[in-house]
Amino acid sequence: MKRIKKIAITFFLVFIAIQFYQPKQNVSSSFDIGKNFANNYKVPPTVLSSLQKACYDCHSNNTKYLWYDYVQPARMFVEAHISDGKKELNFNEFGSYSNRKQQSKLEAISKQIKSGEMPLSSYTLLHHDAVLTETQKQAIIQWIESINEEDNTSENY
Ligand code: HEC
Repeated sequence: MKRIKKIAITFFLVFIAIQFYQPKQNVSSSFDIGKNFANNYKVPPTVLSSLQKACYDCHSNNTKYLWYDYVQPARMFVEAHISDGKKELNFNEFGSYSNRKQQSKLEAISKQIKSGEMPLSSYTLLHHDAVLTETQKQAIIQWIESINEEDNTSENY
């Protein structure tokens, strides 16, 4: 019994100690509007708000943190997801990608949503409001298809 108590106290102290480790937040008010996704594409408001609620926490320069995102060790996973996610796709930097990269990222977005891989299930477990409805998914996929068609037309003529 004594031993179990000791282990429990040790765990508790470690838990308290790691709370002091709070890495820098992914919050920046200043970003280049010219590179911003919504400033480069005519994104329908419903599509934009779906992407914002489901993807922007990990794929933009501004994360809306919830109180439990600050509790360690969750915080470390949250920050790791953000930094990995931003490396792959950052909606605030979208305009700085080459045309080809923008095109392939748009396709990748569509693919990730179709397959249900994004948003990550480990994230939606605690962030229920980031779950996209079937209608919201279809709206994003169809919009991406529609801009692809536009691009093809401009290349052909
Ligand atoms: C909890 C954080 C998180 C959320 C929310 C999230 N992603 Fe991601 N995303 C990641 C991480 C981490 C990676 C890189 C590792 C990987 O592919 O699993 C990634 C990678 C990607 C990639 C690159 C994959 C490739 O093959 O090019 C795309 C595209 C993507 N996400 C789209 C989305 C979209 C669209 C949403 C919203 C519907 C979304 N993500 C929501 C964390 C997230």
